[in-house]
Amino acid sequence: MSSKMLRTAARAARNARIATAPSEKRAFSALAKAAIARPTIAATTRVASGVASVEARRGLKQINFGGTEETVYERADWPREKLLDYFKNDTLALIGYGSQGHGQGLNLRDNGLNVIVGVRKDGASWQQAIDDGWVPGTNLFDVNEAINKGTIVMNLLSDAAQSETWPQIKPLLTEGKTLYFSHGFSPVFKDLTKVDTPKNIDVILVAPKGSGRTVRTLFKEGRGINSSYAVWQDVTGKAEEKAQALAVAVGSGYVYKTTFEREVHSDLYGERGCLMGGIHGMFLAQYEVLRERGHSPSEAFNETVEEATQSLYPLIGKYGMDYMYDACSTTARRGALDWSPRFKDALKPVFNQLYDSVLDGSETKRSLEFNSQKDYREKFEKELQEIRDLEIWRVGKEVRKLRPENN
Ligand SMILES: NC(=O)c1ccc[n+]([C@@H]2O[C@H](COP(=O)([O-])OP(=O)(O)OC[C@H]3O[C@@H](n4cnc5c(N)ncnc54)[C@H](OP(=O)(O)O)[C@@H]3O)[C@@H](O)[C@H]2O)c1
Repeated sequence: MSSKMLRTAARAARNARIATAPSEKRAFSALAKAAIARPTIAATTRVASGVASVEARRGLKQINFGGTEETVYERADWPREKLLDYFKNDTLALIGYGSQGHGQGLNLRDNGLNVIVGVRKDGASWQQAIDDGWVPGTNLFDVNEAINKGTIVMNLLSDAAQSETWPQIKPLLTEGKTLYFSHGFSPVFKDLTKVDTPKNIDVILVAPKGSGRTVRTLFKEGRGINSSYAVWQDVTGKAEEKAQALAVAVGSGYVYKTTFEREVHSDLYGERGCLMGGIHGMFLAQYEVLRERGHSPSEAFNETVEEATQSLYPLIGKYGMDYMYDACSTTARRGALDWSPRFKDALKPVFNQLYDSVLDGSETKRSLEFNSQKDYREKFEKELQEIRDLEIWRVGKEVRKLRPENN
């Protein structure tokens, strides 16, 4: 990226930051102004932005996402008193205390619901739960005891562990209980996971769109993470309502309706693609070419990762892709607009292969095989070390030290 383009982007970012000061003179184009003014889905009146329109009714919102109507629920529909009343006869047995268990469990507890944790006594999570104030024999039990006490069993074991422990868990899921997941993985791929849910209970899902740590942090800030919810089995006729209520109870702000299948397919696909695997592959490919063509490590890193994460991607996140283009130099815009379809055409077949691999269960099979090995943590750590040792990420460590905020 040319220094001129960088300056332009930096200026746009700076302007964006001060955009809330009404008296400030802003150097935005009409497009940039439009992006800033774009309403969020928190709007309470009907808006016609050309992007999304919001029908503000309590209970559910029919939102037009770029031409497709979808149903979204919101936290305000389930205030704390209503949640307490709705779950007054329930014991929420949260099984597993990893990333999601920690976040969802503490949020449920802070919301005043009757929640207990079930984890194996010899694992790391048992001590973690004690450190977080769960008391053995009061609200911390081993897995079987917690399930026996629970009316709503929240299976937040790792996906591989859900499959591994299913023969032990299934007989405890007696009539009248509800089974809750945060991923469609186990029931959707039941041929591989062997998680065949009992036919006489409600089975629901709430999948936060972020890590368990974020679920907790946003809740503590008085905000809520976006989540999707779905129903796998509705025996009582109340499964959908229960899923919505639980979504809010664990700390969600807006809740999107989906199905178990769509949730797991999109999730496995996304994390292997643009969210993690795809973007890492693209960084590596670009960096390697720059290095092979004689560029220095710092230059290759800055042009590949640093400007992306520090300057341009935050603009996409905050205001959209058009805003990012608009914030850059005419030279950069022209080139990026011309090359974007070529990348799309080159990558689309790979994305289709990936989706097929998700759909036919290959990704699930691989995940189960790898993550149920006794030494999977050690093997994973070895792979992380290999990433740490790559030149690009060693360079990144040094470049980060030179950021303005670190000086
Ligand atoms: N992490 C995310 O960002 C995220 C986001 C959305 C949804 N989800 C979904 O949420 C669910 C939980 O994921 P997570 O990331 O929170 O899991 P995690 O951090 O990997 O937690 C794993 C938990 O499972 C327990 N466990 C592992 N193997 C076990 C075994 N053989 N027997 C008994 N317990 C065992 C661990 O206990 P020990 O300490 O005793 O090993 C720990 O409490 C998954 O379905 C996942 O797909 C995760």
